[in-house]
Amino acid sequence: MPDARADVADVAGASAQGEAVAALYDGMAARYDEVVRAGRYVGPGWLALRLRRLPPPARVLDLGCANGRLGPVVRRRFPAARLSGVDVSSAMVEAARASGLYESVRRHDLARPLDRWDTGSAELVLALGCLEFLAEPAALLREVARVLVPGGHLLASFQAHWPDRPALAPRSTRSADVRHHALTEDEVAGLFDAPPWRLEALEGVTGYVSATGFACPYWMVQAGRQGGPPRAE
Ligand SMILES: C[S@@+](CC[C@H](N)C(=O)[O-])C[C@H]1O[C@@H](n2cnc3c(N)ncnc32)[C@H](O)[C@@H]1O
Repeated sequence: MPDARADVADVAGASAQGEAVAALYDGMAARYDEVVRAGRYVGPGWLALRLRRLPPPARVLDLGCANGRLGPVVRRRFPAARLSGVDVSSAMVEAARASGLYESVRRHDLARPLDRWDTGSAELVLALGCLEFLAEPAALLREVARVLVPGGHLLASFQAHWPDRPALAPRSTRSADVRHHALTEDEVAGLFDAPPWRLEALEGVTGYVSATGFACPYWMVQAGRQGGPPRAE
């Protein structure tokens, strides 16, 4: 069992959206597992399938880890992997720490650079169910490319926008004060169309069904991090 010692350092100054996300998920932390079950969230099942085809990572960074729900999925497939988690919600950070599955869990706003994570410090990065909260996912992906070792992988989801069926897949949606940003398939592919990325899979799925009955479409992505520096802005 890894050392579940808390990393108590917080990043000062989360973005306004980051603060709104933190408030939303702080309020949901106690019933999060039930919310996920009721919404038939696709993330854990999709992750389990993808992990079957990946080489064992020594270090896994779980972005937007919430209460550590994906930790058991990673552990089942790769028992020796060292897991680190990141979330902006303090309640979720505490819950992920309490799971005992993560070596460290830090409170951090993904709208900010991952400057406390070293270059080449992970073989696998997960960004499931969290990128729709960012207006600029490209900035985070540059950071992910820096943190990943060459040969490493990113498994991620994006909320989908379908320009020809905007009623089913709008450009943005809201939960309370939190905005969810959706991208077209071409926009997602464009994030990975140049080195150091190689797009290995891009699949359209129903990500989850919200309490109001909205079947939220997702793009599920596997991307390989090739050699070379992260691409410039
Ligand atoms: C829907 S949950 C997904 C949890 C987990 N990744 C999964 O797939 O089951 C989204 C999580 O992302 C976190 N999150 C959203 N925006 C974030 C941000 N800007 N910085 C850090 N965490 C964020 C939320 O606090 C929440 O815990």
